[in-house]
Amino acid sequence: MRIDNPTIVYGLQNLDSSVLNQYSKVFVLTDLNTSSKCLPLLKSSLDFDFKEITVPDGEARKTLSTVEQILQRMIPADRKSLIINLGGGVITDMGGLAAGLYKRGIDFINIPTTILAMADASVGGKTGVNLDGYKNHAGFFSNPKMVILDTSFLNTLSYRQLLNGFAEMIKIGFIYDESLYQQLKLLKGPKNVDYSILKLAIDAKLKITDKDPFEQGERKLLNFGHTIGHGIESVAMDDSPDSLLHGEAVAIGMLAESFISMKMNLLSEEDFFDLKDFVVKFYSDIISYVPNFERISRYLISDKKNTFSGINFSLPISIGKGKTDLYPSESLIRESLSFLQSL
Ligand SMILES: NC(=O)c1ccc[n+]([C@@H]2O[C@H](COP(=O)([O-])OP(=O)(O)OC[C@H]3O[C@@H](n4cnc5c(N)ncnc54)[C@H](O)[C@@H]3O)[C@@H](O)[C@H]2O)c1
Repeated sequence: MRIDNPTIVYGLQNLDSSVLNQYSKVFVLTDLNTSSKCLPLLKSSLDFDFKEITVPDGEARKTLSTVEQILQRMIPADRKSLIINLGGGVITDMGGLAAGLYKRGIDFINIPTTILAMADASVGGKTGVNLDGYKNHAGFFSNPKMVILDTSFLNTLSYRQLLNGFAEMIKIGFIYDESLYQQLKLLKGPKNVDYSILKLAIDAKLKITDKDPFEQGERKLLNFGHTIGHGIESVAMDDSPDSLLHGEAVAIGMLAESFISMKMNLLSEEDFFDLKDFVVKFYSDIISYVPNFERISRYLISDKKNTFSGINFSLPISIGKGKTDLYPSESLIRESLSFLQSL
């Protein structure tokens, strides 16, 4: 089975708004921040009738209960309705899930407003919510009809949130696309992310997800940084919601996992230190947030990527290339965390 890739539009001005007229009702899903900071730009660029559904912001609210509230607000709309998800990855993940559930499925459009959602979460067809603190444990694969990117939305985003998304771009480059990785290194930083670099990242992601939409093979490469990263993010969520952002956890996860790869003689020291220097340049403040193995082990063990063989990793083997379905030993995982704690 295939899921068709969405049409990608770069710049709100390039959208033909008549596509919205084919729907009986249009909902715009926002969170408290995107409602005040992003909806005005959308309204000034596109003239259409819609009902806004606003939910509280933040990873801690990415739950089935919030999705239920969204669905209740949509009653009694019919199946020719459309949801436009205007927000970061939390909104695009939850809105995609709500669209798939409402009356067994209606169309949705993603308008991502963070770098993370633009380069990663809004494309690739994954929707989901967290369950009892376990990341993205409930969800399904479903693609939006369209993804509309506009970098003007990034003007209201904090530097910390820009860096958050930058980490996912580094991930795609380091594990899959050397030219993207090298271009990212040439940028002064996340404030300089523009359509051309976003397009490189999106094309790389779509190249993988097109071949392997349901994560049976190559798509698992995109989990680089996310095995240890999700464990660290879950521990951080236990401590205090949003104390560590998803991309920050992935940045730490990438360092730990590429260290493991080097220790397994898969990745050269030179390539490992190239990534380490790049990540430390931007994320040195958060590397101190590395918990002990004991704290993250329960999350690592219950990671949904695991099989009976153990904790499943996708690891880089050189810049731009990786290998899936690797099962490093517990002692190597411990060693990688100790290495990070020593930085
Ligand atoms: N589906 C996928 O393939 C995929 C891939 C990667 C990540 N994700 C998910 O994405 C989520 C993280 O996404 P995120 O980092 O975008 O988080 P987010 O949606 O929580 O947004 C971050 C914060 O920025 C605010 N915000 C969003 N846009 C803004 C703007 N333009 N100006 C000012 N504030 C704005 C939001 O209200 C929120 O407080 C995680 O839940 C992660 O699991 C999904």
